[in-house]
Amino acid sequence: MNPSNYPLALWPPSASATAVEADHLILAFTVLTLLLVGPIFVGITWFAVRYRDGRNVNRKHREDRDRRLEVSWMLIPFVLTLIFFAWGARMYDGQQHPPANAMEISAIGRQWMWKFQHPGGQAEINDLHVPAGQPIVIRMISQDVIHSLYIPALRIQMETLPGRYTQLWFNADRPGTYRLFCSEYCGTDHSNMDGLLTVMKPADYAAWLAQAGSDLSLAAGGGRLFSSYGCAGCHLGTGTVRAPSLVGLYGQPVPLESGGTVIASDTYIRDKILNPNHNKIAGFKQVMPSFAGLIPEEDLIRLIAYIKSNGQGKENVR
Ligand code: CUA
Repeated sequence: MNPSNYPLALWPPSASATAVEADHLILAFTVLTLLLVGPIFVGITWFAVRYRDGRNVNRKHREDRDRRLEVSWMLIPFVLTLIFFAWGARMYDGQQHPPANAMEISAIGRQWMWKFQHPGGQAEINDLHVPAGQPIVIRMISQDVIHSLYIPALRIQMETLPGRYTQLWFNADRPGTYRLFCSEYCGTDHSNMDGLLTVMKPADYAAWLAQAGSDLSLAAGGGRLFSSYGCAGCHLGTGTVRAPSLVGLYGQPVPLESGGTVIASDTYIRDKILNPNHNKIAGFKQVMPSFAGLIPEEDLIRLIAYIKSNGQGKENVR
């Protein structure tokens, strides 16, 4: 079906196991809510009718009370709803931790389009092709205002913020075409900031990558930028300036001048390039100039990919 022709997508198709579980959670919680609320509505109606003004009924208050009954109708709903808290918390936690083998795709939100880039450097606008059955982590940032990437078929959504990377991961196991949206009002053309997610069999994805073509992987492109922006001059250790080596940096703790450490995450590295005076590094003189306003987000993503590739095997950090 052409995804733009969904009748009224109140219950969109589900394209991942997580989406199916989210449906189960919501259905089960809705049923529980009805079970808990239904008797109250019935009771209120019954009492309102039976004891309405002018009705000749016995209004003598009964003094005896059953404590076990009262405790039970507080305790049982409490425990039942707590089950949903645990269930929801477990799913939320799972959403925060992409598996180590997740493939990383970068996304940039801007007024008013989505730009996605694959590790091999293949780029696409408003469309996203992914292989089925492979965990994908989308690391994203906004170039202007807050946007939000929303993929109903996967039951996931995450804001893209200016100046900070956020992430979203999924494992779509059903090949097909699904819609993706911006779900944060971001200006005039917000409603046009949508696109299609195409989940493909791994072989089809490989073929798609090949025809999409790319001169350079993100990391290789970053390596070139590393020279052209002059980073290599100091950070390769061949120049006269003593700057920290970036080999194996990603995901490692960095000691700060002010004491304590900070993990070298994507956001940290980006911040360090644009705002080197912030979080000065212990043992080094802060001589690096700021690159704020000089390096576009896309180049920052490539530079980070390069730094990341320069020392593999670190777990995903934000
Ligand atoms: Cu971007 Cu709404």
